[in-house]
Formats: sequence, structure tokens, C-alpha cells
Amino acid sequence: MDAYRIVGGKGLEGEIAIGGAKNAALPILCATLVEKGTYILKNVPALKDIKTLSKVLEKLGLRVENLDKNTLKVVNEGLKSIEATYDLVKTMRASFTVMGPILAHEKRAKVSLPGGCAIGARPVDLHLKGFEALGCEIQIHHGYVEAEAKELKGAKIVLDFPSVGATENIIMAAVKAKGETILENAAREPEIDDLCNFLVSMGAKIQGIGTSKIVIEGVEKLYPGEYTIIPDRIEAGTYLVLSILSKGKVKVKGAVREHMDSFLAKLEEMGAEIKEEGDLMWIETPVENLKPAIVKTMPHPGFPTDLQAQIMTLMSVVKGTSEIKETIFENRFMHVSELNRMGTNIKIDGNRALIEGVEKFEYAEVMASDLRAGASLVIAGLYAEGETIVTRIYHIDRGYEALEDKLVKLGAHIERIKVEGV
Ligand code: EPU
Repeated sequence: MDAYRIVGGKGLEGEIAIGGAKNAALPILCATLVEKGTYILKNVPALKDIKTLSKVLEKLGLRVENLDKNTLKVVNEGLKSIEATYDLVKTMRASFTVMGPILAHEKRAKVSLPGGCAIGARPVDLHLKGFEALGCEIQIHHGYVEAEAKELKGAKIVLDFPSVGATENIIMAAVKAKGETILENAAREPEIDDLCNFLVSMGAKIQGIGTSKIVIEGVEKLYPGEYTIIPDRIEAGTYLVLSILSKGKVKVKGAVREHMDSFLAKLEEMGAEIKEEGDLMWIETPVENLKPAIVKTMPHPGFPTDLQAQIMTLMSVVKGTSEIKETIFENRFMHVSELNRMGTNIKIDGNRALIEGVEKFEYAEVMASDLRAGASLVIAGLYAEGETIVTRIYHIDRGYEALEDKLVKLGAHIERIKVEGV
């Protein structure tokens, strides 16, 4: 199994480029199921999750081809199956988001329930309520959701919670439904806007993009074409933490500031001064000058759960007591015990973590429990004097494109090694 060997304390310097947003590229790829035609998608990050979803799409009958590292050509000549099977869906929950577009195309779909996940139970009840409202009959048998409708009809849907996946699935099911769908309490993540903008570029009629009330007027046909995915705000946030730890020597290239407001506001509250020039963003304020803070993860535009582990890593070396309340996922503190193996002082009390700042990270052997947790351990490893081994980096490969190559260019000593077992 692959692991990272990091020799920390090397003093990083240089520009680090942000790739396309994983969580925008995934639903946009799913959306190619909605209409026959040829799609060219640019700025698609080269990631394991994209490969997994490409396999799901191929099994459904689409052709997915890399024109270059970050450009995909998807050809939809009609679906040859309406079923997404457990072997693929269990490896990546985001593949449940094929259900809405398959329904839009075929009016029936059979998709495996995703099963458990390290960060929480993550049910799909809100997705299913949405499909029902659009006129589907839903049955769950033997671990599969089967949905069928004579005709998908627009409806008013109020989500109990602004779920990202449910919002995406419902929008995709509704774009070709008959009549108007009003989706209230919709998620407002920039990745949802990107999906909507992609659909609009194909002729979908969607209003209220970027708000919690999305209105979709069903159309008969869409017209596939070319689209460029937005930059990854979570990758950018992760590398901004590196920028702080390097006293501004690391500069993040290509981030979109408006997508990162809550994260940047929190860093500013901690005393960080965010500098920008052209498409570069960096922070020179030394970590010793930062103040502790309280973070509560929330749906967008609140503080993103996907940057919780990374800001916790930063707070671990900020003098004083910081606090993080995780409200999105019930089990997203798996990185705490691993960070504590690296010398941090973090205590968990239910969904709250209390972080007592320490002077420095210590090298250790640690294990990535999920993608963002893995990234936070790499950050700590880069700033711990000595050799850190991070195992289970298959999690990191799911969401950080060419992580070690990008870090090596900054002067990091990080390499991929093989280790026994898991
Ligand atoms: N939820 C329900 N019922 C549902 C759907 C969601 O109870 O039907 C709950 C979930 O269990 C969770 C909360 O609502 O507690 C939020 O889930 P949401 O549906 O918003 O998240 P998601 O669509 O499963 C996406 C991202 C995650 C990111 C979350 C929150 C993708 C592919 N994944 O997941 O990304 O953490 O939104 O912003 O877009 C990551 O990239 O590391 C990652 C985990």
C-alpha cells in the first residue's frame, strides 16, 4: 500500500497552482447523462474519484476519454443501462448523484445505496424525497434504490437541510421535467452554481443560481458543448494554511476569493493578513502572531467542513485555546488522534474539539482516515522536524491532484513509498 514519507522542516517556497474543483467536476460529469451528445469538459482534476465516476458512466453506456490530463471528452449516445452497481457506488458516495440524471434521461433508475463512510452515516433520504416529489415511485430492495416515473413533473420541494448531493440530484432530475420545479432551502456551495451554470450553458432554464431558492423550468432538450470547471476552493484553502506556516513564502495561484469568504474571514479574525496580487494569494503573518478562534462548520456560505481538519492543524500551533464545532458530519474528527500523535493537544467533547496550541509538530507515523484528514497530516508532517510517515494515502489521491509533485516543487521532501499492510 502507498504511503508518504515526509522529511519535515525544509522551508517551503514558491507558487502552488490550484486545479479544478473535484466537487464541481463530479456532478458535472454526472450531468452528461442527462442528454445525448458530445461534451468537452476542461479543468477536470486528474483524480481517483474522477476515474471511478468515469467507470460508472462507462458502465451506463457513455464513452469517457482524456483529451489531455485535464480535459475530458464524454460521448453520450444513449444509455445502455440504468443501473449503478454496489461495487462502484460503495467506493465513492458521489456516484449516487447519477440517479437524478439517469431519471431525467430514462425515467427509471436503479442505484445502489452508498453504504457507510468514515465521516458519518450520510443517508440519502433527502434525495429520495425530492425524486418522489417529482413523480417517481421509489422502492428500496436488497441495497438498491429503484425509481420509476411515467413522467417527471415539476414540483415545489423544500429540503429539510441544504444537502449538497440532494440539491444536485434534484436539479439534474428536474431540468427536463414537465413544468416548473421550485427547490427551497437548496445548498448554495459554489460547486452547485457551477453545475447550474453548466446546465444553463446547455440550454437549461434555471433561476436563483447561488441562492437557496432555485427555480427550474423544464425544457425538452439540452445542447451539449464545452465547459470549464471552477478552481477548487478546498485545495486552495489547504495550501493557504501552508502559506501561513511558510510565512508567506508559499503563494497560492488561481484561487477564487469569493468562493472562500468564510475561510478567509476566519483567518483574518485570527490576525492573518491576506495578500493578493494578480492570481496569487498568500499570508505572511507569522503563526506566532495569530490568535485562537472559534469555528463552527456550516453549509455554504458558512465555514466549510472540508476545511475543518486543515484549520485545526493550523490552530494546533496557534498560542491559546481554539474551538471547533463540527455540525455537518457526526464523525469528522478522526484526524484528532492522529494529530495528537504528532504532538498536538486536542481534546474532543461530542462534536466539539478544544485545541490547545503547542509550539511545534512532532514527526510520527500516522494514518489518513479521510481525504481532508490526510491533507492535514501532510501539512503537519511538512512542518515537523524529522521523518513522518502518512499511511492510507489512497484517501488523499481521491481529492488532491499531484499533491507530492506540487509540494516537491516548493522544496518539500515528500515521496511515495510502499508499506506493508494497510
Ligand atoms: N444528509 C442527510 N440526508 C440526505 C443527504 C445528506 O441526512 O439525504 C446529511 C449528511 O449525512 C451530512 C449532511 O447532510 O451529515 C451534509 O451532507 P451533504 O449531502 O450536504 O454532503 P454530500 O453531498 O454527501 C458534499 C461533498 C463533501 C462535503 C459535503 C458538505 C461532494 C462529492 N462531496 O457531500 O465533500 O463535505 O458536500 O459540504 O460534493 C470532500 O470533498 O472531502 C467531501 C467529503
